[in-house]
Amino acid sequence: MEIIHDIASIKQAIKKARQAGHTIGLVPTMGYLHEGHLSLLRQARADNQLVILSIFVNPLQFGVGEDYEEYPRDLTGDAAQAEKTGCHIIFAPTVKEMYPQGYNTFVDVEKLTDGLCGASRPGHFRGVTTVVAKLFNIVTPDRAYFGQKDAQQALVIQKMARDLNMDLDVIIMPIIREDDGQAMSSRNAYLSHEERKAAPILNHTLIQAASQIQTGERDATTIRAQIFQAISAEPLAAIDYISIVDATDLTDVIKIKGPTLIALAVRFGKTRLIDNIIVEV
Ligand code: PAF
Repeated sequence: MEIIHDIASIKQAIKKARQAGHTIGLVPTMGYLHEGHLSLLRQARADNQLVILSIFVNPLQFGVGEDYEEYPRDLTGDAAQAEKTGCHIIFAPTVKEMYPQGYNTFVDVEKLTDGLCGASRPGHFRGVTTVVAKLFNIVTPDRAYFGQKDAQQALVIQKMARDLNMDLDVIIMPIIREDDGQAMSSRNAYLSHEERKAAPILNHTLIQAASQIQTGERDATTIRAQIFQAISAEPLAAIDYISIVDATDLTDVIKIKGPTLIALAVRFGKTRLIDNIIVEV
């Protein structure tokens, strides 16, 4: 497995792979890999002849006062884990390589980014779509893999690819969870022992809400109020948002009828966690 830091060299490697007729799978990440990322890499390996993992903590998607500086970084550990999945190349550019002096071009997907994390993290998705568009242009993958944990991000990237006629499949893979239900996330590393013990309340509450819908409750306000009450009862949890939206266009739902996304963001101390569930009715 090779680690490449500059755009000219990764483009050269891609040119060679294309000449050999190889398909290319890209797994974009910010590193500090966990089993969720590894599941994406394994799927990419199964579907493609060349697998590229990008690792780039993208300053553009972090707001003022967010955790850009503290975001965990471990390229050596990541490389060891990625290699075991059969990944061929890690592309780990510097900030200067991605955004040189005078960089001025941004990609913005409207509407889908208005609510949920888009509302509580202004500018976040503009940063995500800009860097992902750049990665797609640099790597020209046949397929790119993202996790369902970032449900809104997944839809926004699919929409960007469609709207900009990008010639690739954006594949969304299921959330990978710890044994206690906690969604895997690089940010779990920030949690204190007590916070980590409390965090699975998010998954448990989402499962409970889904089961209430499955057994006939259709009123989104009632479901939301119950989730709010359950999570508020945990003293270490501070709710950022709880949203019940149409799973395809993220518009607010009043009466639950089609596929519905219940998504939430909750702070435990300084750590902001997100989780979600899709309910099919
Ligand atoms: O999900 C992430 O890790 C990031 O938002 C992504 C897609 C790699 C863009 O920086």
